Amino acid sequence: MTRSVAVEQFPEGYAAMVIGGAAGIGRATAELLARRGVDVTIADRDGDAADIAAQAVRDAGGAAAAAACDVTDEASLTRAFESAVSRHGVVHAVINSAGIQGPLGRPSHEVGIAEFERTLAVNLTPGLTIARVVIPHFLERGYGRIVHVASIAGKEGNPQMIGYSASKAGLIGLVKAQGKEYSRSGITVNAVAPAVIRTPFLDSQPESVVNYMLEKIPMGRTGELHEVAEMLAFIASPAAGFTTGFTFDLSGGRATY
Ligand SMILES: NC(=O)c1ccc[n+]([C@@H]2O[C@H](COP(=O)([O-])OP(=O)(O)OC[C@H]3O[C@@H](n4cnc5c(N)ncnc54)[C@H](O)[C@@H]3O)[C@@H](O)[C@H]2O)c1
Repeated sequence: MTRSVAVEQFPEGYAAMVIGGAAGIGRATAELLARRGVDVTIADRDGDAADIAAQAVRDAGGAAAAAACDVTDEASLTRAFESAVSRHGVVHAVINSAGIQGPLGRPSHEVGIAEFERTLAVNLTPGLTIARVVIPHFLERGYGRIVHVASIAGKEGNPQMIGYSASKAGLIGLVKAQGKEYSRSGITVNAVAPAVIRTPFLDSQPESVVNYMLEKIPMGRTGELHEVAEMLAFIASPAAGFTTGFTFDLSGGRATY
């Protein structure tokens, strides 16, 4: 009989930065990590919301700081990462949950190039920017976790969400390539692909879009924030050591690949 050995999910002194951590999936993940003893830096374009989220973590007994950060701006991201590193001299994991929906409810021939490119700039290009900013720090230490929040739309393609679907599909491809690039360095690069999760992001979607997404989920319900946060926390932990370049499913059975 094999004896199982209980280990703490996060060693003492573990530090993470959650980009887009002031709301929704990012905030739920930052809160869960903090409850598990991780020092979190909540980086968000909305600096005031990041302050409020970090204060809420501290009020609950966790360790957190806020950093105003626009993930589309490399200098801004560098400053936020440096402020995270300055807390303890090291950051072990970066979770990227920043994202926008882009143009919705119109077929491709009615979508403008500028609004499409803006969606890629927020949802896709940061996959490269984050690597440029974070990976040198990880390489020096021989350890690091990057986790991006992609979407089922990137696996399956949601009609009338062309910028969103394309940007998330791009992110999934980027993660595959980066996972292989750093596979012998102690660094893993992964993503999650949620179907519909109950957040304010969902409330802002047209009802027809929500219904379209719900009817495709075999479980017949939305995902819950804690379900996403649990998976992100696991992927960001040392325990998830033998998976890289992968996009984890969170779709209630919609995508079984
Ligand atoms: N909610 C869902 O059903 C769902 C499903 C699949 C994928 N996702 C993805 O999950 C991620 C988070 O979604 P959510 O529902 O939590 O959204 P949300 O809008 O509640 O939170 C997103 C956060 O990202 C921040 N942000 C946006 N642009 C930014 C930028 N340029 N720089 C830094 N921060 C920025 C926002 O200020 C906000 O705090 C997104 O990438 C989204 O595409 C969400």
